[in-house]
Amino acid sequence: MRVFLTGGAGYIGSHTLLEILSKAHEVCVYDDYSNSAPVALMRVERLSNRTFQAVTGDVLDQGSLAKALVDFKPDVVVHFAGKKAVGESVAKPLMYYENNVVGTLSLLRGMEAAGCKRIVFSSSATVYGEPQYLPLDEKHPLAATNPYGQTKLMVEHILRDWCAAREGASAVLLRYFNPVGAHDSGQIGEDPNDIPNNLMPFVSQVAVGRRAKLQVFGGDYDTKDGTGVRDYIHVVDLAKAHAAAISYAEAHKGCEAINVGTGQGVSVLDVVKAFEQGSGQPVPYEVVARRPGDVAACYADASKAESLLGWQATRDLADMCETAWKWQSQNPNGYAAP
Ligand code: WQD
Repeated sequence: MRVFLTGGAGYIGSHTLLEILSKAHEVCVYDDYSNSAPVALMRVERLSNRTFQAVTGDVLDQGSLAKALVDFKPDVVVHFAGKKAVGESVAKPLMYYENNVVGTLSLLRGMEAAGCKRIVFSSSATVYGEPQYLPLDEKHPLAATNPYGQTKLMVEHILRDWCAAREGASAVLLRYFNPVGAHDSGQIGEDPNDIPNNLMPFVSQVAVGRRAKLQVFGGDYDTKDGTGVRDYIHVVDLAKAHAAAISYAEAHKGCEAINVGTGQGVSVLDVVKAFEQGSGQPVPYEVVARRPGDVAACYADASKAESLLGWQATRDLADMCETAWKWQSQNPNGYAAP
């Protein structure tokens, strides 16, 4: 199949690119490198021993995007490109609505021009808002609590309506929980701009000496050790879920939302302990006040992914930490030159 990846040079995009190249798909990556690095694509090319096309462009540049799509003629699009920092979305909501929502409309217009009617969308468990029950299944009420989550929810609604109006169209909305870890080679991984918002990259940077200590946001939640509980999923498992979703979109019509998680809840202190064991490095931390907007616990019921996609997460927390450490220790400055 011919697969078009927006944001394919990013953290999840590059791991998915490597996975689908191993399945002999023809691939075109479309990325503006605003939150990624071209060197990631060079490393994927070396790791896969496969070639693929790469077009530099912004999803908001409708002309450039439409041309890339018409030229490549994809069978399916995987849409990763978007802004993803919760805190930044609160400070800059218009940038998030423009990039994530208008950018998706631009993509759908380009897909129409290219005659492509299948899409896999990078959604997020954040669309569930404050959990009313756990584990979260896809029937849980949707209620985003920040502009980032609102953009994901809006795009889900847009894709659902687009599917209903477009004969033969299919859309798979993958609701990620917490992606972490790196490819076994340590050659590609998570390389956040500026100070990491997310736990695992921050812990990695403490372990490698780039940061002095971790601030644990809250020690008084109603959880097993008082710290936040999340469903961390290995990025390679997540990449495999995308490969399965591409096959599903090829064989089915309509719009399906699917959780992508392990079903296991893991606390912040569990992650700290596992990372120290996996890296052999201390991760000093200080428990501070809760982060506004955080929920106590959030983890998936992943049974729909198993029944619809035939996919299950297989990699455990130790592997997540070991591979995150391998990436970070081999690339202390991420993709930037040493
Ligand atoms: C995890 C836990 C924090 C940092 C968000 C988005 C989600 C997705 C992933 C994009 C929480 C604690 C964190 C730190 C800490 N976004 N923490 N100190 O908030 O569950 O999810 O990021 O893909 O859509 O909602 O992830 O990694 O920020 O936090 O104590 O320095 O770690 O309080 O309990 P989160 P996270």
